[in-house]
Amino acid sequence: MFRQKKTQHNKEGNNLITLMKPSSVISEEFRTLRTNIQFSMVDKKFTTLMFTSASPGEGKTTVASNVAVVFASQGKKVLLVDADMRNPSVHQQFNLLNHKGLTNLLTEEKVNIQDIVQQTVVKDLFVLTCGIIPPNPSELLASNKMDQLMDKLTNYFDLILFDLPPILAVTDAQVMANKTDGTIFVIRNGVAEKNNLYKAKELLEHVHANVIGVVYNDKKRSSESAYHYYGVEN
Ligand SMILES: Nc1ncnc2c1ncn2[C@@H]1O[C@H](COP(=O)(O)OP(=O)(O)O)[C@@H](O)[C@H]1O
Ligand SMILES: [Mg+2]
Repeated sequence: MFRQKKTQHNKEGNNLITLMKPSSVISEEFRTLRTNIQFSMVDKKFTTLMFTSASPGEGKTTVASNVAVVFASQGKKVLLVDADMRNPSVHQQFNLLNHKGLTNLLTEEKVNIQDIVQQTVVKDLFVLTCGIIPPNPSELLASNKMDQLMDKLTNYFDLILFDLPPILAVTDAQVMANKTDGTIFVIRNGVAEKNNLYKAKELLEHVHANVIGVVYNDKKRSSESAYHYYGVEN
């Protein structure tokens, strides 16, 4: 139903360890992360999840993309949406073109979801790239059109993951925390500052975000792997 785009597809994504090295320790960590996410949401409706962090460069896009791969490889029909309209990069992870995307679906009348969503090299994994960077991302994400789009997308996909900008920079992640079933907060070793983490926590609490877990990225201990997930009690 969703068309394979004529793009510069390479065989693998740029950074997708779960695709390039599925048997590696880190890929195993991502599968554990998947299990933990499923356990965190065991009693709840669980269709939309978003990824944010306090600051840029903490690994939101990397984590969201790999989580998307491991859920799709379990047979779920997954859509990864690049809702970081400030610094979109999901298309690069999957070597897709970004001529059209989320902004087209939010700002144009006669556009079909099927014509904009792109298939990836991973079976059951689809990507909605950002499209042209708009001047008003927060407004677009807060719009009724976004609610309607999310409703429609849930008819096509079992799981929809949203990659968001850092929460301290702009309101986008707060806006989306309110519209999604759960939030995963990514903290990168050596990048995240303690004060910023407190501020981020306050901002998430302020909008009653359902933070289901924290991914501690880039943990530098050779005996342990790079990604750690901590469930958050609600
Ligand atoms: N655990 C990690 N080890 C090494 N490099 C990483 C790790 N996590 C992220 N990176 C790299 O850091 C950069 C920023 O990651 P990205 O996922 O784009 O962050 P964000 O989306 O939060 O801005 C990318 O070049 C990515 O490849
Ligand atoms: Mg990013």
